[in-house]
Amino acid sequence: MWGLRSSTLANIFLLLSVAMNFSVSHVSASKQFQNETDRLALLEFKNQIHDDPFGALNSWNHSQHHCRWEGVTCSTRHQRVIALTLRQKQFSGTISPQVGNLSFMRSIQLGESQFHGGIPQEFGRLFRLRVLNLSHNAISGKIPVNLSYCLELIYISLTGNNLEGKIPIDQLSNLKKLKRIGFNNNNLTGEIPSSIGNLSSLTSLSLAFNNLEGNLPMEMGLLRRLSFLAATENKLSGIIPASIFNSSAITAIAVGGNSFHGSLPTNIGLTLPNLQALYVGGNNFYGSLPTSITNASGLEILDLPNNKFAGQIPTNLGDLTNLQKLNLDTNLFGGNSTGDLDFIASLTNCSGLRIFSLGYNKFGGNIPRVMANLSNQLAALYLGGNQLSGTIPEGGHSKRFWQITKFAISKSIPK
Ligand SMILES: *[C@@H]1O[C@H](CO)[C@@H](O)[C@H](O)[C@H]1NC(C)=O
Ligand SMILES: *[C@@H]1O[C@H](CO)[C@@H](O)[C@H](O)[C@H]1NC(C)=O
Ligand SMILES: *[C@@H]1O[C@H](CO)[C@@H](O)[C@H](O)[C@H]1NC(C)=O
Ligand SMILES: *[C@@H]1O[C@H](CO)[C@@H](O)[C@H](O)[C@H]1NC(C)=O
Ligand SMILES: *[C@@H]1O[C@H](CO)[C@@H](O)[C@H](O)[C@H]1NC(C)=O
Ligand SMILES: *[C@@H]1O[C@H](CO)[C@@H](O)[C@H](O)[C@H]1NC(C)=O
Ligand SMILES: *[C@@H]1O[C@H](CO)[C@@H](O)[C@H](O)[C@H]1NC(C)=O
Ligand SMILES: *[C@@H]1O[C@H](CO)[C@@H](O)[C@H](O)[C@H]1NC(C)=O
Ligand SMILES: *[C@@H]1O[C@H](CO)[C@@H](O)[C@H](O)[C@H]1NC(C)=O
Ligand SMILES: *[C@@H]1O[C@H](CO)[C@@H](O)[C@H](O)[C@H]1NC(C)=O
Ligand SMILES: *[C@@H]1O[C@H](CO)[C@@H](O)[C@H](O)[C@H]1NC(C)=O
Ligand SMILES: *[C@@H]1O[C@H](CO)[C@@H](O)[C@H](O)[C@H]1NC(C)=O
Repeated sequence: MWGLRSSTLANIFLLLSVAMNFSVSHVSASKQFQNETDRLALLEFKNQIHDDPFGALNSWNHSQHHCRWEGVTCSTRHQRVIALTLRQKQFSGTISPQVGNLSFMRSIQLGESQFHGGIPQEFGRLFRLRVLNLSHNAISGKIPVNLSYCLELIYISLTGNNLEGKIPIDQLSNLKKLKRIGFNNNNLTGEIPSSIGNLSSLTSLSLAFNNLEGNLPMEMGLLRRLSFLAATENKLSGIIPASIFNSSAITAIAVGGNSFHGSLPTNIGLTLPNLQALYVGGNNFYGSLPTSITNASGLEILDLPNNKFAGQIPTNLGDLTNLQKLNLDTNLFGGNSTGDLDFIASLTNCSGLRIFSLGYNKFGGNIPRVMANLSNQLAALYLGGNQLSGTIPEGGHSKRFWQITKFAISKSIPK
């Protein structure tokens, strides 16, 4: 019903616009519709939208200049369209290739709608494009190779679509200004080529929840500005290249849910002094948790579950006073011996600790009394699946144990 009505209307507008174009071209002071190409492209964009449940495009009519249409921004001097910002409009339809005619465009923000179909190759004609944000739609097909012509691109997010095929990194790697890539939650496949090392401005790379395979290329360590790396839930394997652990700009590494192996470098806290989050769960990592981790003083998240890490936890781990989440679950930490939980005393200095799991390891000894003095922010505490003994400590904040929403201690304390 809506679809029919809205596209019929759009057709009428298109006819109207052709008629007006004709009359306007005979008026010398045609200030009202300065660039006909822009207006026709916008009308064609509207024409490809079959459902506009919030009426976001109601203002796209001929009673006013297209520069005043909702979501359209024009340059003040030349009245050329420079931005299209229509987020959370629940449009359904496809993105018209005619958008490629909006040659002064700098920013396209069409996130959180229901666009389907592909990303037009014609986007490669937008030489001035800086921001392309098509996140959270139902866009399919491949990432167009032609985006490599958008040399001014700074930010591209295609997160949360149905894109497939290989990422055309070889072509995109000539985008020297590109800072942020968001390709999370698609169905991208293939390997990450070494040419990624040529994206010299890159600060944030998000590739999580795809079907990427192969190794992370060593050349990623050439990205001296890379701060955020997310590749969670793919089919990646091999080791994390030493060059990445050597990149001092790194603040977050999230590579959980892959098939990586290898150990954390012993100097990790010295080479990554700005590290705030390390997510490596659900891989085949082994070796110990290096003591140097305590030198990464801004660390908030240490998420290591479901690996084969072993050995003792550094007893000064609580030097990381900003720790919020410490997840050691399902590893081989500890030695079924009395000193295994000595590190917990230092954690009383982590006043923001919210989640703490040491479940399913080889920790032994008594549950230390100091456990009762952990952060009063603690919302989840998992101790089960170890060889712990003793009782739940009293005193301190011990009453809080029973207020913690997620508290698991089963298989630890003998009946
Ligand atoms: C309108 O835009 C087109 C395409 O960029 C351009 O060729 C044309 O010169 C512009 N016309 C005016 C009047 O600005
Ligand atoms: C055209 O847009 C203006 C501004 O939003 C609005 O007031 C007017 O009702 C619209 N006209 C039609 C025919 O939809
Ligand atoms: C606009 O784009 C279409 C398709 O990309 C093209 O065929 C057409 O010639 C362009 N029109 C103008 C006026 O530039
Ligand atoms: C991209 O679009 C999404 C969805 O609308 C939004 O949440 C996000 O903030 C946008 N990113 C930028 C950098 O504008
Ligand atoms: C791809 O981009 C190039 C460079 O802007 C342009 O010449 C070509 O027409 C684009 N391809 C398509 C199919 O629009
Ligand atoms: C993703 O792509 C793979 C290989 O092309 C295919 O087998 C799979 O069904 C796709 N998954 C989804 C959710 O589209
Ligand atoms: C990176 O770019 C240089 C030239 O800028 C080129 O010679 C080299 O082959 C590129 N590297 C990769 C891995 O594509
Ligand atoms: C790490 O960086 C240092 C200094 O920047 C350099 O000498 C060393 O070769 C690098 N190591 C690796 C494995 O990249
Ligand atoms: C690393 O931490 C240790 C123990 O906390 C400390 O003695 C050492 O000085 C730190 N090193 C650097 C380079 O900060
Ligand atoms: C742990 O140590 C206790 C006492 O030292 C011993 O009885 C028990 O068998 C050990 N458990 C495991 C799984 O090694
Ligand atoms: C807590 O921090 C203070 C100040 O840095 C330090 O003196 C104290 O030893 C720490 N306590 C524990 C249990 O690590
Ligand atoms: C726990 O804290 C209480 C009060 O803050 C203190 O009296 C007690 O000594 C602490 N217990 C341990 C084992 O540090």
